[in-house]
Amino acid sequence: MQTDSSFTFVLFGGTGDLSMRKILPALYEAHRAGGMLADSGKIVAVARHVADRADYLEWVNEHVKPHVSKNGVDETAWASFLDRIEFVKIDLGKAEDFALLRDALSGRPGIRVFYLATGPSLFVPICRALASVGLNENSRIVLEKPLGYDLKSSNAINDAVGEIFAEEQIYRIDHYLGKEPVQNLLALRFGNVLFEPLWRREWVESIQITIAEELGVEARGDFYDNTGALRDMVQNHLLQLLSIVAMEPPHSMDSDSVRDEKLRVLRALKPIDPRDIGKVAVRGQYHSGVIRGSAVPAYATEPGVKPDSTTETFVAVKVEIENWRWAGVPFFLRTGKRLADRVAEIVVNFRAVPHSALGASALRGGANRLVIRLQPNETIRLYCLAKQPGEGMNLASVHLDLAFDRFFREGQMEAYQRLLLDVINGRLALFVRRDEQEAAWRWVEPILDEWAASHKPPKPYAAGTWGPAAASAMLAQHDTCWLEEEN
Ligand code: BG6
Repeated sequence: MQTDSSFTFVLFGGTGDLSMRKILPALYEAHRAGGMLADSGKIVAVARHVADRADYLEWVNEHVKPHVSKNGVDETAWASFLDRIEFVKIDLGKAEDFALLRDALSGRPGIRVFYLATGPSLFVPICRALASVGLNENSRIVLEKPLGYDLKSSNAINDAVGEIFAEEQIYRIDHYLGKEPVQNLLALRFGNVLFEPLWRREWVESIQITIAEELGVEARGDFYDNTGALRDMVQNHLLQLLSIVAMEPPHSMDSDSVRDEKLRVLRALKPIDPRDIGKVAVRGQYHSGVIRGSAVPAYATEPGVKPDSTTETFVAVKVEIENWRWAGVPFFLRTGKRLADRVAEIVVNFRAVPHSALGASALRGGANRLVIRLQPNETIRLYCLAKQPGEGMNLASVHLDLAFDRFFREGQMEAYQRLLLDVINGRLALFVRRDEQEAAWRWVEPILDEWAASHKPPKPYAAGTWGPAAASAMLAQHDTCWLEEEN
């Protein structure tokens, strides 16, 4: 991916957690790899609590370096990476400070990227201040989630940003879309003839998409307590994964062809009737428990969390898609903090054979199953039945295993690295378009409203388990179970 297009990457929130853990390490990796970033490309960090460039570089050395590269830091590359970094001290509350930024950016070649790694309440003031000094021309703006709290607040941000930047200048990040295995899902579906004929209601019984985390809310208790798992993970990451699993083949991989198809799925999600929410959505909150041998505290005692909080740290929800391909096929989405394992995977359960001459075991649903493991250890497994060796015709489950690290030893790219390169190079396909975001909010809102109105507390689950039992009961109603319950 050679490039010679120059850029200036302006990082608002330059000393924030995201800059430290994700953005600067990703830019370093792209720099170290060579040929991905134009030599003349610069990073301009914007922060308030840092005196000057020397101070900022000290902060970068101290805080960013430990997050860089699993394989150790290449000191030569690190030194030349620091040469790319400049610094402008701006108080984001003072619109007049933006003249400093305008002066610092004037006369530079190439595109300007403004990355807003700040709280969402600053998105609109920053955009307005940029426009007031003419910096909205020849530029792209990157917005981190959460983009709003509900449809109304997300529309308010999008309307205000949309008055300043055209939609094709706006890059809404959902980092799940930058993950290598998610890209691979597109390759698997649309690069092969094998799966597509089966990828429909006639042959698929149900689909599960799980993003399970062992971590709790870490230092983000304050933020999380006002957010909850539905807004934090379902409205964005899980619905985006669902749309990629369920979309029709796009006619090309250009930005709008892919996003149009994803949008069609999001618009076809069957609206949830508030009266059914108890049947199709489960929310939970973790209590204390044990994860990998260590005791962990209850959510309600985490710093920043209200002791009587009713915020959900777990959601399982049944989704249906109202179109010819998927009508009647349940998609079960699930996510939670402090669960038994860290795993993100998509499970496609195929239907049983219509008639078995080989005995009852061949009539079991789920005998054919595709398991796409997104993380950790990216693999794709195709489960089939085979004859057990020996006398008689006894069937047993076996699988074909595709472990990507066996085929591709090098070249894996972190999500943020891919997405930042896409922004710099003007590729929008992996960013969420406004209409997609609206459709996703529209679908989750009745659940949010009903939960808020019901005043019922979330169901408790012990940390280190797979969430409330009700999540299993919901699948049992469809004669199925979560993948880990099979084993
Ligand atoms: C973020 C959420 O978007 O995704 C976090 O805000 C969550 O709460 C994270 O932990 C999970 O991402 P990943 O890439 O670690 O699975």
